[in-house]
Amino acid sequence: MTTEYNKQHPFPASIKERYFLSRKGSKRKTQHVVLDIRGSGITYNVGDSVGIYGRHDPDLINKTLKAMRATGHEIIQVKQTDEKLPLHEYLSSRASITYISPKLVRELHKRQHDPDKKHFLDELLKEDNRDGLKQYLEKHEVWDFLLAHPEVSFSFQELADLLMPLLPRFYSISSAQKYVGDEIHLTVAPLEYESNGHKRRGVCTHFICEMAELHQPVVPIFIQPSHGFHLPEDHEVPIIMIGPGTGIAPFRAFLQERLLHHKAKSRHWLFFGEWNREYDFFYEEDWAHFDKHGHLRIELAFSRDQEHKVYVQHKMEEHAQELFEWIDEGAFLYVCGDARGMAKDVEATLHKIIEECGALDTIKAREYIKRLRRQKRYLRDVY
Ligand SMILES: Cc1cc2nc3c(=O)[nH]c(=O)nc-3n(C[C@H](O)[C@H](O)[C@H](O)COP(=O)(O)OP(=O)(O)OC[C@H]3O[C@@H](n4cnc5c(N)ncnc54)[C@H](O)[C@@H]3O)c2cc1C
Ligand SMILES: NC(=O)c1ccc[n+]([C@@H]2O[C@H](COP(=O)([O-])OP(=O)(O)OC[C@H]3O[C@@H](n4cnc5c(N)ncnc54)[C@H](OP(=O)(O)O)[C@@H]3O)[C@@H](O)[C@H]2O)c1
Repeated sequence: MTTEYNKQHPFPASIKERYFLSRKGSKRKTQHVVLDIRGSGITYNVGDSVGIYGRHDPDLINKTLKAMRATGHEIIQVKQTDEKLPLHEYLSSRASITYISPKLVRELHKRQHDPDKKHFLDELLKEDNRDGLKQYLEKHEVWDFLLAHPEVSFSFQELADLLMPLLPRFYSISSAQKYVGDEIHLTVAPLEYESNGHKRRGVCTHFICEMAELHQPVVPIFIQPSHGFHLPEDHEVPIIMIGPGTGIAPFRAFLQERLLHHKAKSRHWLFFGEWNREYDFFYEEDWAHFDKHGHLRIELAFSRDQEHKVYVQHKMEEHAQELFEWIDEGAFLYVCGDARGMAKDVEATLHKIIEECGALDTIKAREYIKRLRRQKRYLRDVY
């Protein structure tokens, strides 16, 4: 009997292997992570992502328990499932303790009687101060928010109910199941930053890259099928892949499938960008291996090897005419990675290339891109 694993019923995968993708001396900490899914019956396609439920760091749990004036042994009931759990376990795997719910702020505001603090919260919660509230919430975690208001008390159950659930995070799969079998490969960039004077770490990246013990079934996962971010059915159609940083992940999977499994004879063009050529050329050996098995052309944009920034879109511009010809002759174009900066700038560059090389005005170039989208030849997986 095969068990169906999904978001509600994740499979406990183990980490088989985990290593840095950058060479020693790099300032980047991006890791390659191999999950073992033997016995799960899980299947996936290239372009899919995996959903992972992380656990919080023990130090962070302890800080939160301290701020709640709890030991962790207190039994609380989980609102969503009615399960009864010790508070420690609830904070570890079920509740979000890095994001503060606006509900918690409002409830604390009601109970705060210190005039200065009440006034501060009054201002924070004003209808026309949404951005201010957002910024404040982004700078705090539950523990430092509670510690700023020691006058206010809640029962443990009340506080548990005011926390948001710990949600899964998603990672693009960087392997092809047809090539690796019962494994899922990931390309994970650990998140570290400072806020409100404290060093913070991304919950799930810290869990995957440092906390989760190797070879233990402690990583709850499920497959998140892609909505259309997949290879053309015809293996002979050329593809262009633009993926700086972790955006490279699905393209390693695409090339494993096309070149190593299907032995496709068509053309593949990859645009990759990172900080330094010497240290951060992720998967360098893989690209060389793929090229031995077919046609792979690579453009590299190392942003910090010189004074001025060199990004993937600059490489697109350098090869504008050829890029346009590939697209115009039917190539599929894929973009993966950062949504806020990179994907927008890449699209603006694409627009410019189509305008200039296709001799089209702005409106016609926009229609050209729309048509590519409609034909599902311009596909993005950006986050
Ligand atoms: C479809 C999809 C595919 C993805 N693929 C990948 C992938 O292949 N590899 C990968 O590494 N990631 C990928 N991501 C991103 C990934 O899902 C997580 O968002 C990321 O790993 C961070 O999760 P975390 O739990 O470590 O951080 P969290 O604990 O969720 O923290 C993130 C939050 O920290 C806060 N934050 C971040 N930086 C700062 C700052 N400088 N100052 C203040 N606050 C800040 C922000 O509020 C941010 O929302 C993908 C996302 C999606 C949606
Ligand atoms: N959701 C999360 O919490 C989380 C976790 C990890 C990463 N991230 C974010 O996800 C994105 C991806 O991170 P990553 O590690 O994959 O790599 P990244 O930070 O996007 O960097 C990859 C390369 O892209 C370059 N770059 C920066 N801005 C660009 C732009 N506008 N156009 C083209 N290239 C650009 C970078 O150069 P420079 O750095 O030299 O400018 C670097 O060489 C980033 O925004 C990162 O902050 C988020």
